[in-house]
Amino acid sequence: MDSKRDKASDVNPALLHKKMLQLLSSLWVTRAVGTFARLGLADVMEDGVEDYAAIAAARGLVPDRVYRLLRALSTLGIVAESTRGRFVLTPLGRLLGSHSPNNTRTTAIFLNDYFADMWTHLDDALTGERTAFEALKGAPFFDWLAQHPDEARRFNRMMLEVHGPETPAIVAAYDFSQFDHVVDVGGGNGSLLSAVLAAYPKLRATLFDMAEAIAAAKRGEGGPLPGASFVTGDVFTTAAPEGGDVYLLRHLLHDYDDRDCVRILANVGRAMHPQARVLVLEAPLPSDDSPGPGRWLDLQVMLLCGGRERTVEDYAGLFEQSGLRLARTIPTGHPAMTVVEAVASPRA
Ligand SMILES: C[S@@+](CC[C@H](N)C(=O)[O-])C[C@H]1O[C@@H](n2cnc3c(N)ncnc32)[C@H](O)[C@@H]1O
Repeated sequence: MDSKRDKASDVNPALLHKKMLQLLSSLWVTRAVGTFARLGLADVMEDGVEDYAAIAAARGLVPDRVYRLLRALSTLGIVAESTRGRFVLTPLGRLLGSHSPNNTRTTAIFLNDYFADMWTHLDDALTGERTAFEALKGAPFFDWLAQHPDEARRFNRMMLEVHGPETPAIVAAYDFSQFDHVVDVGGGNGSLLSAVLAAYPKLRATLFDMAEAIAAAKRGEGGPLPGASFVTGDVFTTAAPEGGDVYLLRHLLHDYDDRDCVRILANVGRAMHPQARVLVLEAPLPSDDSPGPGRWLDLQVMLLCGGRERTVEDYAGLFEQSGLRLARTIPTGHPAMTVVEAVASPRA
């Protein structure tokens, strides 16, 4: 946030009022953008349909109402009204169509679906008795996914959309050539492992995750995994694959509270050999008070699964409790990705 602008609005009641109303209505944006994506209106427009009535007709909708939706979306830079009543997708809006490479359509739908609905249970999360997701759906998130394979598939697809751009940045920033065996713990559909294998074809790879993610990886949804081994299990009850030289944990720890993170890291610590590395691949919160999107993702994972975002010092504390120690942090070319590297602690 721009602190100078904040200061100006602090002293101007009209600006303060406007800003507050904008904040309070931000749900409208999520709902409008998500519905636009879900109804496939971006897909219709990607096919070259520009007239609002034709766009509405393609999905059996009321022309005037679709016109008003498009007009509102134009204020966000998602569509542009070229001439009156004719709209085109902007480069930003094309990310909501299913044909564009690197599109975020599944994510737009997800964030307007139960990922949005669970925010009505923020107070449940704040009391700490159960997660907002449990209040909404009656079961912990990952248990629920295991019982709903179609939802697990959709979630894995979203993970690919959200974290896909981080993958080349990780591979470019970290030298895997010193290793023989890489293990991805909670590796989802194997997209990161696939990219690492493509860059280092001599590596042996093992993917460890729950059943649906492993099934997706075997279907090739995360990309080719030549020669990879697959281990299906729960990281709290199944021993991590043994003998890895490097263990990847991308966006796994932030799904869990500190106690569970220590259980996960200790499981990895028992499996790895003494010289192995553990790479926590997340976006650490700044250690100072500089603001950033991590503060919001922190709430999202709190609501979803009781997780949290962490500073590098927080990770160091978890490592210490798990028989590991922080070795170094390596920034990547992606703003939301840092490699936090740990090794076995000599005291362990
Ligand atoms: C946020 S997703 C990240 C997936 C992948 N690492 C990536 O970055 O795209 C978390 C992954 O951890 C897996 N996971 C969560 N809890 C797990 C558990 N208890 N045991 C094994 N895998 C788990 C999920 O199935 C999911 O694939």
